[in-house]
Amino acid sequence: MEFSEVIERRRSVRKYADLSVEDAKLEYVLEAARTAPSAENHQLATFVVVRDPETRAIIGRPGSTQDGKWINRWLARAPVIIVACGDRSKTAPHHGVDFWQIDTAIATEHLVLAAVDVGLGTCWVGAFDEPLVRTTLAIPQQVGILALLTMGYPAEHMGVTERLTRTVVRADTRKTMSELARWETWQRHDHA
Ligand SMILES: Cc1cc2nc3c(=O)[nH]c(=O)nc-3n(C[C@H](O)[C@H](O)[C@H](O)COP(=O)(O)O)c2cc1C
Repeated sequence: MEFSEVIERRRSVRKYADLSVEDAKLEYVLEAARTAPSAENHQLATFVVVRDPETRAIIGRPGSTQDGKWINRWLARAPVIIVACGDRSKTAPHHGVDFWQIDTAIATEHLVLAAVDVGLGTCWVGAFDEPLVRTTLAIPQQVGILALLTMGYPAEHMGVTERLTRTVVRADTRKTMSELARWETWQRHDHA
């Protein structure tokens, strides 16, 4: 697939076809994550791939945001849940930015884009039960859990996030280019 098509096609998928994901495709997306850049090449990210239905049923239990509204009831039905982890013992925050989180986020997004390339859908999930995931998968304390990533073949209707349905915000609403990019200084919104 052309890179521009991968970018264009990527959407968060929350409803999956009843198909398992082939090992070769999992290896392909993980390889994309393995080649991601990382601070000082420390490569702090590690991914736990969970396919076992019983384990998915446990770690896919609804999480919630601080206001308790975002509960991700669809989560356990994804054929694969990938737990994006990073070794937080090996970095110190630089000006308030934690590099284990950046490394892990970049590697995860590599994985997301590679998934599109082979016809798979994913969804980042930030609202999950962290202690439950940690205990169930025996993840050591020095390892941070950044997010869960669901993966599978998209169902015809890809699903919407529960919070977005309630507040009627369209998931494809995007900033305009002039909101996104500033030129030379913060104040300048165009480059003409
Ligand atoms: C860090 C992060 C956490 C997210 N957490 C959730 C989540 O808990 N539940 C969910 O349904 N979507 C979650 N999303 C997906 C976003 O809702 C989605 O990316 C956004 O609405 C834009 O839609 P799109 O990905 O289809 O373009 C998360 C995305 C990111 C990057």
